[in-house]
Amino acid sequence: MSIKVILKEGSTTSVKSGDLFLPITEEQYKKINASPKTDYEKEISSKIVKSQFSGKFEQQTSIHIKNLRIHLFGLGKEKKLSTEKVRKTSGAIANYSLILKISDPIICSDIHGMDSTTSAGAITDGVFLSSYRFDKYKTEDKESIKLKTLTILTNSKDKNIASSIKNSQITCESANYVRDLQMENADVANPLYLEKQARAIAKKHKLKIKVLGEKELTKLGAGLILAVARGSKYPPRMIFLEYNGNPKSKDKTAILGKGITFDSGGLNLKPTKGIETMREDMSGAAVVLGTIKAAAELKLKRNIIGVVSSAENAIGTAAYKPGDIFKSLSGKTVEIGNTDAEGRLVLADALTYTEKNYKPTRMIDLATLTGAVVVALGDYVAGMFGTDDKAMASLFNSGEKTYERVWKLPLHQDYIDEVKSNTADINNINYSRRAGSIMGAAFLSKFVEKTPWTHIDIAGTSWLEEERGYYQPGGTGFGVRLLIDYLRNN
Ligand code: BES
Ligand code: MN
Ligand code: ZN
Repeated sequence: MSIKVILKEGSTTSVKSGDLFLPITEEQYKKINASPKTDYEKEISSKIVKSQFSGKFEQQTSIHIKNLRIHLFGLGKEKKLSTEKVRKTSGAIANYSLILKISDPIICSDIHGMDSTTSAGAITDGVFLSSYRFDKYKTEDKESIKLKTLTILTNSKDKNIASSIKNSQITCESANYVRDLQMENADVANPLYLEKQARAIAKKHKLKIKVLGEKELTKLGAGLILAVARGSKYPPRMIFLEYNGNPKSKDKTAILGKGITFDSGGLNLKPTKGIETMREDMSGAAVVLGTIKAAAELKLKRNIIGVVSSAENAIGTAAYKPGDIFKSLSGKTVEIGNTDAEGRLVLADALTYTEKNYKPTRMIDLATLTGAVVVALGDYVAGMFGTDDKAMASLFNSGEKTYERVWKLPLHQDYIDEVKSNTADINNINYSRRAGSIMGAAFLSKFVEKTPWTHIDIAGTSWLEEERGYYQPGGTGFGVRLLIDYLRNN
């Protein structure tokens, strides 16, 4: 069930009933107090206890005027205003609405110091991301109400506001779709389920789809993804979804996602406090599906190939073993130094296949690849590596804009030279355990021949342990908003 967004032109005084939310800067609030013009500005300045509200960021207060409830949410100083603050504030408005059982909030998007197109988009972002709940398994304590409508009120006649809202809605709904996939039980969201999701997207948007199963992968010699999948009762899947929004152009971007539907670590079993959230190890794959879905709904004029490389890293007598050597699709042999470094294995075969068979202009992969990236960057920023300086610069900008931020880490030849083995061509780990995230990227680089390539390690950003801003604990869908912004601008 989706929230219906209504764009309403008019001033705040035109609203006579319901719940009207005013995100407001300190300066904006001061002005109302100094010279209240309308009746209702007079009410505001007379009813609000000055010592309790001044428009500071994260302050809030409410007043009643007959059938109307006005809620002021502080944005802080105009000079320090940002889209992220507006996102956070509208996120707080959505949470507040859910708690107070307000199903139809009206939010004014006319914010001093920001154009209405930007603010309307940011408000929509905040409301859609913030009101997401994963409660399908709850039988008690369900949020008894969902948002039905979101009315965005503006005085501006800017023609771009409606499309800004629509872009945001589609993109955030796709991010929430990704979160559903992340949160779902690993025994539901297995590789076959990801295939089903991909087929449904393909059917709905008439996209070309190719799925490689066990038989095809065996025939091709994709020994790495097959090795990872061996211990699981679920067979692996390599899925290719083609969205051609600009058939006249030869340019095409491949986005690849790690789709480990549960990462037990394999025989190098993960310990308690490491294993609990590993159903989210398919976040990269889910982001690929969500991005293709959003791109198709937005009718982006870009050509995109979405690649999902999916298997379950299970433990058992059939599981692949440390020390053994497998032959990759590229022909390179890989010694398994650690069965828990499985993401790079499924991605390696996917990179090889994609580069060879689809010849994309560039490749961007997203993967919950290493715990080391969480050590380096925490859960605020994703690690970025690669050979494609142009894409990485654009992705950085898109990250700042969407607040799905990325930070470039080095990938010098010295690191790549460390990817070696005594018994095979390369090993999937370096035993020193230093520079863990870079070594993950260095391993992947061995499977890219000449295509400009970017790797984004989302192990930290894909999941939050605790509620933060407009996110509930759990999956964040990190990557969809980043990639859609990147694709739109490149
Ligand atoms: N899926 C994990 C990485 C991960 C950690 C994702 C925390 C999300 C949160 C990955 O497959 C993994 O286990 N990596 C190992 C690599 C090591 C064996 C070289 C790690 O980070 O310990
Ligand atoms: Mn692992
Ligand atoms: Zn993993």
